[in-house]
Amino acid sequence: MKFTKAIILLLACGATLYAQKGKKAAQKIKPRNEFVSELMAKMTIEEKIAQLVQFTADGTVTGPKGGDNFIEEIKKGNVGSILNATNVKYTRQLQELNMANSRLKIPLLFGYDVIHGYRTIFPITLGESSSWDPAIAELASKVAAAEAAASGIHWTFAPMVDIARDPRWGRVSEGAGEDTYLGSKLAMARVKGFQGTDLSAVNTILACTKHFAAYGAAEAGRDYNTVDMSERVLRETYLPPFKATVDAGVRTFMTSFNEISGVPATGNKFLLRDILKGEWKFDGFVVTDYTAINELIPHGFAKDSMQAGELSMVAGVDMDMVGGIYLKSLKKLLSQGKVTEAQINDACKRILEAKYDLGLFEDPYRYNDEKREKQEINKKEYLDAALLAANKSMVLLKNSNNVLPLKREQKVAFVGPLVSDEWNIIGSWAATGDRNGYAVSVEEGVKKLISDKSKVSFSKGVEIIDAKRDMMKAALESAAQADVIVAVMGEFENMTGEAASRTVIDLPGIQKEFLAELKKLGKPVVLVLMNGRPLTLSWENENMDAILEAWFPGTMGGDAIAQTLYGLNNPGGKLTMTFPRTLGQVPIYYNHKNTGRPYLGAKDPEQKYKSRYIDSDNSPLYPFGYGLSYTSFAYSNLKLSSKNMNANGTIKVTIDVSNTGNYDGEEVVQLYVKDKIGSVTRPMRELKGFKKILLKKGEKQTVEFELSADDLRFYDIKMQFVAEPGDFEVFVGGSSAAALSDTFVLVK
Ligand code: NOJ
Repeated sequence: MKFTKAIILLLACGATLYAQKGKKAAQKIKPRNEFVSELMAKMTIEEKIAQLVQFTADGTVTGPKGGDNFIEEIKKGNVGSILNATNVKYTRQLQELNMANSRLKIPLLFGYDVIHGYRTIFPITLGESSSWDPAIAELASKVAAAEAAASGIHWTFAPMVDIARDPRWGRVSEGAGEDTYLGSKLAMARVKGFQGTDLSAVNTILACTKHFAAYGAAEAGRDYNTVDMSERVLRETYLPPFKATVDAGVRTFMTSFNEISGVPATGNKFLLRDILKGEWKFDGFVVTDYTAINELIPHGFAKDSMQAGELSMVAGVDMDMVGGIYLKSLKKLLSQGKVTEAQINDACKRILEAKYDLGLFEDPYRYNDEKREKQEINKKEYLDAALLAANKSMVLLKNSNNVLPLKREQKVAFVGPLVSDEWNIIGSWAATGDRNGYAVSVEEGVKKLISDKSKVSFSKGVEIIDAKRDMMKAALESAAQADVIVAVMGEFENMTGEAASRTVIDLPGIQKEFLAELKKLGKPVVLVLMNGRPLTLSWENENMDAILEAWFPGTMGGDAIAQTLYGLNNPGGKLTMTFPRTLGQVPIYYNHKNTGRPYLGAKDPEQKYKSRYIDSDNSPLYPFGYGLSYTSFAYSNLKLSSKNMNANGTIKVTIDVSNTGNYDGEEVVQLYVKDKIGSVTRPMRELKGFKKILLKKGEKQTVEFELSADDLRFYDIKMQFVAEPGDFEVFVGGSSAAALSDTFVLVK
């Protein structure tokens, strides 16, 4: 196992990236406040409004284009930002056009969705979150920022920090899963990765926290759908990752498409002005999601585009993404007294400050160096970082009889629709990432490791969705010759991401039928999965010998999968979303409430009038935090430093973790807390800490956590964020089902 090497690589890569600050000597300009206020004093109202306008170029569009002719709009000086223009040459052309037409020489801001990599693609964010490793999230974002910045991009629309508990929703692939605590830690790391410590450096870009807010709670997992939730749940479960990014210094926020309890997020003053800009003192700017101002009309919240513009400006939206409404409505709304000059000035100032911090007023072409672009993109160290992240994202769901790791002397038949795939493997929304001919397939990864051709064979057998059976026979014949079968299956990349909700989350098409045929051959069958959401895998869990969840692992995915299958990487990832037994259990998440009639399982003497299903167990197939390793870990000796915690005090929680198996391995040690009685009911347990440790074979380590009353706070019956004195239970282990527990009392 190459852990030491991996860590050295990680540090080296980070160090080089941090070091890349220098650039050509900048033109000296005044300090930000002075510069921006002097500039604004010269600006007409039209010029100020133009700063609040974003149009899209012809790149990846995710809806109708508002500004029909963005070139004409730039010439007229009507645009502050351009979305979907990439590469140094093109962004330079547009910037030149803008600078030639901008009376006060205000540069354009180029935004692009750099979600899990720019050209070098990392695992999808849900996969990456399975690493439970903020350093990996930071590294991936840092590489993405470096490549994007080298390609003329100033601003990414990430991190997406929506808590998601419904795997039907296609966008679960873009986030960090179901948990608020873990999600907050990873969100902060990603902001740090994108923005670094100096936005004017040539390898950093503006981050954008999205989608504000509660988009992940869309009813029935249907994209853009309604959300209705209590303020308590909103503040306790959905908002903390957003707040965490404000604390981490994120410079922009994006509104969400959904309504929340009757008020669409883009016209939601409570969210934008009261909470974000008020309570949290966010001093960056807010952009809408794509045409979200226009969508206030079909929401039934605004009667026309004038009113939609008014409601958005009043609510606190600073920039209109592609909708064209601010451009058309704000001046008139101002003359009618429906919006104020102070509101427009404030929005404009926030946007100009971001441009200033990027160094664009010093040099509007500071990110437009073609030589740099060539040197930076797909650098070896970036590919190595992507491989590291992919290896850390692998989650081993099952491994009967230690079928894995494979042995080099075994004859292995690799089958399945994704076995030689270079398209789906990088996942959906992969920016400018190259697919066919560039991404490493599983076949390629395996061939790099196993040079003896007689030991491995590759055949598809079936397609992902297509029900054609004509390839199945040949694949079964080659599988029949092997000692072990590895089936590489999953979803098509575009079955996840935006506008990709599913009502069935089984393996699509006839893949399961093919697995059943493979099983009949009587050989061990390993299922390797590439997918962007939890799937329902009860049959697979029952019938397969091993299951490796590889997610969509990115450009280097094939290498990572091969290295994991052959034991060069010991999988240490843990699920960040619960896998249900059956779709009917959804939404299912670990930190649920107990109810007044909790079901105690099969041994419960009262089976009928309990909170349960008559046709399924309540428990998930694989719980949050779950993931196996090629080695095994034993937990013992859970100790609390005291049985009492004072309001200002802390207690230490310690536990011994031993590597009891045959390999070195990483384990994510997880700490959960249950508040037994509250003025409002509390979840069964909540994640309050985690530590990822590397234990050599036979090694034992004492892991320590510290808990304070701050960790126990929640919104009480009066909506005050407090810790209530009383009894608490602590659980520590390798998943949210951790069994070892102890109790303490928070004293008054
Ligand atoms: C719509 C998506 O919801 C959002 O996440 C994305 O950043 C914008 N389109 C821009 O592409």
